[in-house]
Amino acid sequence: MSKICVIGTGYVGLVTGTCFAELGNQVTCLDTDPVRINGLLQGQMPIYEPGLEQLVEQNVQAKRLHFTQDYQSALEGAEYAFIAVGTPSGVDGEADLQYVKAAAESIADIVDFPILVINKSTVPVGTGDWVADIIRRRRGNRPLEFAVVSNPEFLREGSAINDFMAPDRVVLGSEDRSSANRVAELYKPLRCTIMVTDLRTAEMIKYASNAFLATRISFINEIGNMCEDLGADVREVAQGMGLDKRIGRHFLDAGLGWGGSCFPKDVKALEHMAVLHGTQPQLLQAVMEINRNQRRRAVMKLRKALGTLNEKTIGILGISFKPNTDDIRDSAAVEIMHLLINEGAHIQAYDPQAMDNAAKVLKKVKLCESPYEVAEGADALLLATEWNEFKQIDFAKIKELIRNPLILDGRNLWDYDLLKSMGFTYMGIGRGNN
Ligand SMILES: NC(=O)c1ccc[n+]([C@@H]2O[C@H](COP(=O)([O-])OP(=O)(O)OC[C@H]3O[C@@H](n4cnc5c(N)ncnc54)[C@H](O)[C@@H]3O)[C@@H](O)[C@H]2O)c1
Repeated sequence: MSKICVIGTGYVGLVTGTCFAELGNQVTCLDTDPVRINGLLQGQMPIYEPGLEQLVEQNVQAKRLHFTQDYQSALEGAEYAFIAVGTPSGVDGEADLQYVKAAAESIADIVDFPILVINKSTVPVGTGDWVADIIRRRRGNRPLEFAVVSNPEFLREGSAINDFMAPDRVVLGSEDRSSANRVAELYKPLRCTIMVTDLRTAEMIKYASNAFLATRISFINEIGNMCEDLGADVREVAQGMGLDKRIGRHFLDAGLGWGGSCFPKDVKALEHMAVLHGTQPQLLQAVMEINRNQRRRAVMKLRKALGTLNEKTIGILGISFKPNTDDIRDSAAVEIMHLLINEGAHIQAYDPQAMDNAAKVLKKVKLCESPYEVAEGADALLLATEWNEFKQIDFAKIKELIRNPLILDGRNLWDYDLLKSMGFTYMGIGRGNN
């Protein structure tokens, strides 16, 4: 059993801390946000993540998982300090490292025993060395025995616990093999592939992975747009491509593009790193432009079908950036709603889990209690997030409620033939044969 402190109790920190506790370690999750910590102390989850609430409760009851705002008590006797704070986009697209810096400084100020500092936040290449420098400089003539290990996180919101407990790989980067091996000990119970690299390579693996996945989605969206013009069906194109083992089927779903808390900021940060160091990241720039365009294209389709968006009522199904999460950071749905509002449209929207987060930022949107309320009086319905709940929709009821039976299925979720036979005008993405 090891003593672990996790700094930052968000999507990554809370899942990491809870899963390490489940593996039998003593874990304290620390956060500077009092609302978050007070809520957790009362058993309230700050995020929606399937299975998390139960796992937190179990480990709190077993006294292996603790929450605090107090750095001193969180770090007391910790052998491992995981940094899992946010690294949002800065003004020029660079990763904003202020929270990482604050965490490193707190470790330097408080710890007086040997400790491993493990960076789980997604950080630019070279940040591990920078964190070590911050700690060294801050200590001055009070040297601290420590090492920095990079341990990028690959979990996906919506399946985070499974991704943590059964990862494809764990990547550990360090200049000191024995430190990496000590972190590897924590992951041994998972019986997964553990890859040890130098610090900078580990940091780059994370960015390169996210950029590659975003590239696949932009690629299939570009192909989808061509399918619309050329009379092909992108869903079958993706299936046909994916059957080739060299290609595979994952991340080849045409839709409204990628969003969320990671891809947009990470691709931007990688582009920024490239430019800073003299490389022209042409592919990354195209990947981002295709993604921006995909959102504008959805608005264009609605405008074209309705003649104008001014004074039209558009119903939006799904607000989170993908299903099974309440995270709306850089969600395609949110940006599309803003674009529609700018053109004078009225928006009514519903999401199975993201309504609280939506209420904080979507002040001009009517938030509804069901898909049927969304459809009521609407001139068009846009499916923005493919929640399972939306697969079961009663379209006969929608048809009665909607003013104009026009559907833009932004995730190719629904059955074209069925909807057409019911009298809907149906538009999908990349379905040029419909
Ligand atoms: N969300 C994901 O799916 C995901 C997946 C892989 C990697 N990541 C990376 O992991 C990192 C964390 O992402 P997230 O989505 O969990 O962020 P988040 O915004 O959900 O959580 C970050 C938490 O850190 C806290 N915090 C900020 N400064 C702090 C400090 N000095 N001390 C203690 N707590 C502090 C915030 O209050 C917040 O609760 C990011 O670098 C992200 O890119 C995220």
